[in-house]
Amino acid sequence: MAEEIKAAPPATFKVTIDNITVDVAPGTTILNAARMIGGDVTPPAMCYYSKLQGSGGKCRTCLVEVAAGSTADPRPMPKLVASCRTTVMDGMIVKNITSEKVVDARNGVVEFLLLNHPLDCPICDQAGECHLQDLGYDHGKAGTRYQFARRTFKREDLGPYIQLHMTRCILCYRCTYVADQITEKRVHGVVDRGDHAAISTYIAKAIDNDFSGNMIDVCPVGALTDKTFRFKNRVWFTKPVDAHRNCENPKCCGKATLWLRGDEVFRVTARKDEWGEVQSYDGKTGWICNTCRFDKKSTSDWTVEGVTTISRHSVVGANKYKTLVKPTETISKVLSGRNPKLLMDIHDVSEVNAKDIELSDINGPAHSTDFKNMPRSK
Ligand code: SF4
Ligand code: FES
Repeated sequence: MAEEIKAAPPATFKVTIDNITVDVAPGTTILNAARMIGGDVTPPAMCYYSKLQGSGGKCRTCLVEVAAGSTADPRPMPKLVASCRTTVMDGMIVKNITSEKVVDARNGVVEFLLLNHPLDCPICDQAGECHLQDLGYDHGKAGTRYQFARRTFKREDLGPYIQLHMTRCILCYRCTYVADQITEKRVHGVVDRGDHAAISTYIAKAIDNDFSGNMIDVCPVGALTDKTFRFKNRVWFTKPVDAHRNCENPKCCGKATLWLRGDEVFRVTARKDEWGEVQSYDGKTGWICNTCRFDKKSTSDWTVEGVTTISRHSVVGANKYKTLVKPTETISKVLSGRNPKLLMDIHDVSEVNAKDIELSDINGPAHSTDFKNMPRSK
């Protein structure tokens, strides 16, 4: 019998996402291919977390349209697919923000996620760095069609440092993967089913392993919060700086972000990348131990490296960081070349916003001493 001769697959696959073509290794998911392009082309991901095996496929925020499956079989896929779980094929054509179907479906997914999620951003510690809040701004509706009582849960302490506000949970499973994959013992998980499904600890056990604090970092919403930071400050009033220490725990990377107000360390978190995930160092994920996170709350415990780069579009970065990419100013174009007439130039009345002072260079909140050489203070 004549043997079928198959051509060897190409070393890299070409995939086109929103009209931008990129070469990726076979086995790459559409989401990770889109992350290689970056910007708005990248679908949002509420449950996928590249550092946690098995994550993804739960929330459906990353849905995309596959307009052509591959060069060999260019038929479109009949339904929208989860980009975090679908691998690319050579010649695949994907639509994300250029697809009306995707935008419509994502609006629906966000509406669904917000059915039970309380709109308590004004008092939620995650506000300002919440992925659901960002999604709500991009895809949410002003009103709700839901007419039933929202499901509510009592707040639960998961050990001495973490509080679970299950009412805010979107059941992304990330925290259970952290407990499974980087801590010694998992005592919590998803219990019950359907509308009653909840993250909980079995027989009221406390979570007290060395790395439990990382569950707070992976939670995309404010369901798991740091009890040492709860209600202490709004995150955008704090100043994040990168710092490191020689941690005795061999599994801890010792690199963290300190969130300062003046010299006071309000909270310590792992460092995050542009996707809001914990950064990797030398191929290893930079998880931090509970000692670094909860016990080292003094700047003298750390070697401060400098101001943290915030690249997510978030109020945390607003007006603070040199690396912030500001949107192009279009007002004068809209006004046919005229600049808007200002009622008052703030620089005329306040030295705090003086043009010559770079607020990013000031370590901590600005004080009068930072402006002592300005003309008005003489
Ligand atoms: S508590 Fe947070 S991390 Fe855990 S499943 Fe709920 S939303 Fe996800
Ligand atoms: S990120 Fe893909 S389904 Fe949640």
